[in-house]
Amino acid sequence: MDKFIVEGGVRLSGAVRISGAKNAALAIIPAVLLQPGVYRFHNTPNIRDIWTITRLLGAMGIHSELNKNELFIDSTNINSYEAPYQHVKQMRASINVLGPLIARYGRARVSLPGGCAFGPRPVDLHLRGLEKLGANIDIENGYINAHTEGLKGTRFHFDVSSVGATENVLSAAVLAKGSTILTNAALEPEVTALAKLLVKMGAKIEGIGTTTLEIEGVDALKSVEDDIIPDRIEAATFLIGAAMTRGKVQLDGVNPYHLTAVIAKLEESGCTLDVTGNTIMIEMNDAPQPVDITTAPYPGFPTDAQAQWVAYMMTAPGASRVTDMIYPTRFHHVPELHRLGAKVDVHENTALIQGGHPLSGATVMSSDLRASASLILAALVAEGRSEILRVYHLDRGYEALEDKLRNLGASITRVKTDEY
Ligand code: EPZ
Repeated sequence: MDKFIVEGGVRLSGAVRISGAKNAALAIIPAVLLQPGVYRFHNTPNIRDIWTITRLLGAMGIHSELNKNELFIDSTNINSYEAPYQHVKQMRASINVLGPLIARYGRARVSLPGGCAFGPRPVDLHLRGLEKLGANIDIENGYINAHTEGLKGTRFHFDVSSVGATENVLSAAVLAKGSTILTNAALEPEVTALAKLLVKMGAKIEGIGTTTLEIEGVDALKSVEDDIIPDRIEAATFLIGAAMTRGKVQLDGVNPYHLTAVIAKLEESGCTLDVTGNTIMIEMNDAPQPVDITTAPYPGFPTDAQAQWVAYMMTAPGASRVTDMIYPTRFHHVPELHRLGAKVDVHENTALIQGGHPLSGATVMSSDLRASASLILAALVAEGRSEILRVYHLDRGYEALEDKLRNLGASITRVKTDEY
């Protein structure tokens, strides 16, 4: 088990290269099940969630190798159509193998993902969409058992905008007989990245980048190589860290178009941002203005940057409100932030922050990936030493975060511990 030790009070400065997007890679990798063959994905983040999904594919007989950020997958030989609980419980996005397995092999047995630290995380839209395409699905002993004689094109409307459900149903529809129209499809860049990859593989998809996707099923696809898009949430985390520490940081290898809501809110808080190509320079010299945010599906403010924004508003003198409309209970970071001196109260799905009070170092515990990030950001500005426990949560979605922060001047070290 590892923990981070952070000495607060350092202004971040310098340049950092943003890694490939975890949630794009997790959307794209299951597509190798749609067409047996050899795939190469460049700019793949070398993080725990990628190790988890490649281990899951390995359990199906599929060989893969991750060398630094080059992912090689050979899906020619598959000998199992099952995603066992021990993999799915580690990462709920494993359910994204369901659609491709049913579409290509007509069968799948996938563990129901449980809940997670911040909510029940239902999968009803995944299942209803696949049933509408012609999959026969029943749930037994915590597993989704699915089979079909062949998927058929259909029309399906997503009750709510769902990234995972859109990815699962879209992936299945590309091999269905006939045409499918998906409405209220999710617009996240990671969904668009998947749709573009599927087209590169030979799928016929219209409306990419809109909430209406029209798919004409095809009989076969081809294996390809692709580049994973930059991680907009990692980028948001570094932008907020630079703002909190009143630093000056250049982010390289980003797609600013994926960060418009975050950039707008940072500017509103008083930051100076200069966007040039795939680079963003952010500078902050004064205390930030308090700025309210409400999370929303893309292109709204991302829920995955909500915890980081709560930490940021702790340094903004005055009152601010952070409301999460996607995950109303995603505030497990708040009790830990209290230990650093935060004045934050949570009422229903809103955190009310009294910012500008001094923060002092303490030992805090991560509960989930983005909560961990907010604790680290808060520790960067807290006076003195902080320890962040259970960083395995963080390792799921950030590659070498402590090295990147240290290169920006932060005092942060990873140490082994048997503290849990
Ligand atoms: C994806 O999760 C991301 N994970 C999450 O990022 C992110 O928080 C989330 O999208 C929202 O942006 C990956 O891409 C691997 P959803 P997903 O289905 O697909 C409800 C991170 O930190 N819903 O878009 O599971 C659901 O309850 C992770 O990187 C249903 O009601 O999210 C939620 O309120 C955390 N029924 C809303 O939709 C369903 O069948 C959005 O969830 C599915 C979802």
